[in-house]
Amino acid sequence: MVSVLAPADDATEPTSFAGPDHPIRKATRQIAFDGGWSRERAVKVGELFDSLSGEWHTDHSDPVRLSPVRDALTRGELDTSGLWVELGAGTGAGTEVLKPQVDTLLAMDLSWGMLNNGANVATSKVQADSSALPLEASSVDVVVCVNMFLFPDEVDRVLKPAGQLLWVNTMGDQTPIHLPADDVAKALPGEWEGITAHAGTGFWAVYHRA
Ligand SMILES: C[S@@+](CC[C@H](N)C(=O)[O-])C[C@H]1O[C@@H](n2cnc3c(N)ncnc32)[C@H](O)[C@@H]1O
Repeated sequence: MVSVLAPADDATEPTSFAGPDHPIRKATRQIAFDGGWSRERAVKVGELFDSLSGEWHTDHSDPVRLSPVRDALTRGELDTSGLWVELGAGTGAGTEVLKPQVDTLLAMDLSWGMLNNGANVATSKVQADSSALPLEASSVDVVVCVNMFLFPDEVDRVLKPAGQLLWVNTMGDQTPIHLPADDVAKALPGEWEGITAHAGTGFWAVYHRA
């Protein structure tokens, strides 16, 4: 079960952008629920984000968009000690908010262009496909996904028994890579519970095993 907290003071509706028929919305659901990831899709997604990487940081580091990351750090009952791994970290819009609050932060992304444009301030940056993470089982305290596809089996594999997942969609249900908070819990293997809240133009959700 995912409990809903009161919206943050700055919560507002996102502008209409990527509704349910958006192709990336459909791909997000396939990847989370139907194993919809393949070598071909990885190549296409990597090329797409390499091509977008030059302009990405300017467009995506707006403070209102990043409000869900800040609010999750305040109200999300996250343990900020230990190893945090941000998947699909991109140019580091979320990373910049997380870094001052977190002991050790590793940023991973499929696209080297994204990792090397903008302001990615993570302790370490690794180019890796999140469908097969180069991480040991039960080695991570917190996995972060900000506007990133969900790979449920890998998240479950790398998180420690008491580990947490932070899921953020900075444009709420208008984010192209979007899953509602309840669907993230359903996609993860086994029983998970969490809390969620709206903040800025988006929402955050924090999960742990029930
Ligand atoms: C919508 S962008 C979000 C970037 C950043 N988190 C942000 O909010 O600005 C999605 C990011 O996920 C990365 N990505 C997509 N599929 C991935 C995969 N299988 N493994 C790792 N990164 C992936 C893309 O390269 C891209 O940088």
